[in-house]
Amino acid sequence: MKLIVAYIQPHALNDVKQELYKAQVYKLSVTNALGCGQQKGYAEQYRGVEMEVNLLKKVRIEIAVNDNFVKPTVDAIIKGARSGEIGDGKIFVLPIEETIRIRTGESGQDAIG
Ligand SMILES: Nc1ncnc2c1ncn2[C@@H]1O[C@H](COP(=O)(O)OP(=O)(O)OP(=O)(O)O)[C@@H](O)[C@H]1O
Ligand SMILES: [Mg+2]
Repeated sequence: MKLIVAYIQPHALNDVKQELYKAQVYKLSVTNALGCGQQKGYAEQYRGVEMEVNLLKKVRIEIAVNDNFVKPTVDAIIKGARSGEIGDGKIFVLPIEETIRIRTGESGQDAIG
């Protein structure tokens, strides 16, 4: 089991959602985030004296998947979010120790799917 965490441009969310749906990934969590990458948040929209990092609006997507769904999920996010410009986003893949469906008490792979 893996947790896929992606930071993407907010305007890419719809396309990412559609690509995930095509890849049969239907469960996800989305939150608004602030962040910056290697440009410290500047080059995307502002050129000036860099005194501190500039936090830009991003969308954070979290998707817990079984191992065979990692590649299709990552590919779908890339397909929906890549423009080729800086700030397109980043994807992290983390191990999940356990998953529990509260209603039934199911755990592990059964609880994710
Ligand atoms: N190492 C990191 N740790 C935590 N969050 C990160 C990290 N790198 C990027 N992010 C998050 O991802 C968002 C998008 O990052 P971004 O696409 O700008 O990455 P980048 O490494 O600067 O690549 P690029 O050069 O293509 O812009 C950031 O605004 C931030 O929220
Ligand atoms: Mg960047």
